[in-house]
Amino acid sequence: MSFYNQLHIDKGAIERFNPYYCNLESSLTDPIIINGQEFINLASNNYLGLASDERVKEAMINAIKRYGASMCGTPIATGYVDILKKVEERLSKFIGLEDTAIFPSCYQANLGLFSSIVNDKDLIIVDHYAHASLIQGIRLTGCKVKPFLHNDTAHLEKVLQKSSDYQNIFVVTESVFSTEGSLAPFEKIVNLCENYHAIAVVDDSHGIGVIGKSGRGILEEKGIVDFQGIYTASLGKALANSGGIISGKKELIEFLRYSCSSLIYSTALPPAVIGGIDKVLDIIEEDFESIAARMWRYKRLISECLQGCGLKLAEGTAPITSIIGGSLENTIAIAEILFENHILPTPFVPPSVPPNQGKVRLIAGADLKETTMEKVLGIFKEVRF
Ligand SMILES: Cc1ncc(COP(=O)(O)O)c(C=O)c1O
Repeated sequence: MSFYNQLHIDKGAIERFNPYYCNLESSLTDPIIINGQEFINLASNNYLGLASDERVKEAMINAIKRYGASMCGTPIATGYVDILKKVEERLSKFIGLEDTAIFPSCYQANLGLFSSIVNDKDLIIVDHYAHASLIQGIRLTGCKVKPFLHNDTAHLEKVLQKSSDYQNIFVVTESVFSTEGSLAPFEKIVNLCENYHAIAVVDDSHGIGVIGKSGRGILEEKGIVDFQGIYTASLGKALANSGGIISGKKELIEFLRYSCSSLIYSTALPPAVIGGIDKVLDIIEEDFESIAARMWRYKRLISECLQGCGLKLAEGTAPITSIIGGSLENTIAIAEILFENHILPTPFVPPSVPPNQGKVRLIAGADLKETTMEKVLGIFKEVRF
């Protein structure tokens, strides 16, 4: 068989209706336009609804006017434009950590992190639901890896008790697990790490700008001060742009700036992106409470309505509602019903979730109009899932 014929994908359940790679013809507005038709967007991670905010767009345009389209270099070369440094410092303060390095994406941050700091005398213990970018990054190290059951700190402690002969032990988790919206018991994980001399690593991609009283993420949410571990997050979700960060102790970030190949050998984010993130931080600092109140209210309305319709939902406390679809076929069928009613969801099927644990995720951004939300609830009550 020729090489290209070997690259066959069995599309199975998505042969008839394919919910992936939709042809989006608008920005993330309410409504969005797909193939010329209006849809309600419950699929993106635009939690605060700032991706099409006029103030953010203007800040991005101003950054282009001042710095151009690109610095055409890696951060270590010509990519370290002054606003990049400023936003790194701002993010450190925002999260409550000493220093931050901005990567082209959080996938790249997670991919580069572990192979820079871990060697074969070390152990990584990881929540078995952790995001693909963490798993891929961990795999690159070749060190010993042990999974722990999802959000199960009793199991984590058992694994820690049996793991003493290592130079360093890292415990890796997400803060908000994005397919279901569950929140890690991170304060307990941090305590266990202290007790067993392990280093906690948290990916706060779905927490930054979302949880915590003022949107500062998992550390604020859990009241963790003087965090001694490692923090990563995406800037492409609530922060409404793109990029990723690693934050933590000054020594760690300085080390990564000179050793992490996914940072050193990749073109820095364009100035426009950095300008946009700077503005989003302004907006969060000024107005988080009222924006977040809308986001949480929409989440409650959606979850209560779907439960009222008899649907089983994942138990998540983040502003994510996940309908339990189970089989691949059923998960895609639920997504299809929503799509037919001009609601765009995110169906998760294997390998994003384990077999027969399909989920249909709904995230209502704070920019959705009240009338849109009424329409969504009306549709949920009318259709037969
Ligand atoms: C938990 C988690 N980590 C990392 C990433 C990757 O982030 P980015 O899109 O910035 O590469 C994602 C995005 O899907 C995510 O959900």
